[in-house]
Amino acid sequence: MVLQIPAATGIEAAVKREIEHMGLGHAPAIRGRVTLEGDWNTVARLNVFLRAGERVLIVLKEFPATSFDELFAGVFSIPWEEYLSAHARVRIDGKSVKSKLAAIKAAGGVAQKAIVERLRERLHVRTLDEAGERAVVGVSLYEDVATVTLDTTGEGLHRRGYRVLTYDAPLRETTAAAIVEDSFYRRDKAFCDPFCGSGTIPIEAALYARNIAPGKSREFDFCRFKCVPQGVLQAARAEAEAGEYRGPIAPVYASDLSPRAVAITREHARRAGVLSDLLLAEQDMRAFTAPERCGVLVSNPPYGERMKGEDLALLYRDLRSMFRALPDWSAYLLSGYEDCERLLGRPDKRRLLYNADLKCSLLVYFGKKPRA
Ligand SMILES: C[S@@+](CC[C@H](N)C(=O)[O-])C[C@H]1O[C@@H](n2cnc3c(N)ncnc32)[C@H](O)[C@@H]1O
Repeated sequence: MVLQIPAATGIEAAVKREIEHMGLGHAPAIRGRVTLEGDWNTVARLNVFLRAGERVLIVLKEFPATSFDELFAGVFSIPWEEYLSAHARVRIDGKSVKSKLAAIKAAGGVAQKAIVERLRERLHVRTLDEAGERAVVGVSLYEDVATVTLDTTGEGLHRRGYRVLTYDAPLRETTAAAIVEDSFYRRDKAFCDPFCGSGTIPIEAALYARNIAPGKSREFDFCRFKCVPQGVLQAARAEAEAGEYRGPIAPVYASDLSPRAVAITREHARRAGVLSDLLLAEQDMRAFTAPERCGVLVSNPPYGERMKGEDLALLYRDLRSMFRALPDWSAYLLSGYEDCERLLGRPDKRRLLYNADLKCSLLVYFGKKPRA
């Protein structure tokens, strides 16, 4: 089977690295989708282990589609009855770029009709009662070629299950994990997020340090597809369990000025099973110091909504002084504040990233190379 993992700008490299790390080889990225070959075991492993990827799709068919008739015929020719039951709840996720079939709603309706017709014919039923499994079918038209995919994940992989309390402007778990992975953080280095909010970044760091697979306790849509061999999810979960690291790790500092943020981080870390790895503090970022000479600071400082103008500029200037006082630490700062680079200083690396739909810069400041 051909599998695809949609990967937004700035996340692609982390997804590719994760796939290689899982022993699945080099996976090229085409138009924002990392592509690889795999079977149902691969599907289960990707869903359980991926930290930065958002979902895993199976590519069922690619075919030219310049008319609704061609689209209908192409979708109808897919053996849907091998995947879905007569109770499937089919939902179409459509997209059209540079294609004659630009009316995506109508194209989605045609695709849906083709699936229903095929299931009715092959499963010998009059209607689908839609009381059963969810099936999200992607119909993507690009330059008059239709790519039909079936989503194996369901709720996005960022839904780890630990983030249950609401907090302002939290970072997506998958984005936080991608930055942590990019940061060369290892479990023997100290880690810090001095603006921890709801705890996403330090929790993702601790999960990474402990090699805890983020999807190990979740359900996925593929488990209800008919052709999936028994036991594939259980095997991936067992592999995940066996790979966890239970020894000591260097401190993961997580602090925030807001007592509510610290309380939320505590609860989220408890749910994620990493509370004992976090050193939590209710404190101003300006007060952060650490006895460890080397470390990694990954953070998502405030930008704009709550704090404006002079206060924000002052905060960023003080943040610069704070991490400059830790010369052997690297800092990875994600911000949507337009003046962040001017105030924090020229970074060693910069990358464009999106937090939900908000365009942000990831500014990277490398620490001094460790002395021998
Ligand atoms: C953009 S939010 C961080 C969101 C977080 N990454 C998450 O996923 O939930 C910024 C955080 O900075 C905190 N903050 C603002 N000023 C601060 C300061 N001077 N020192 C420490 N924390 C501060 C706010 O309370 C807020 O929780």
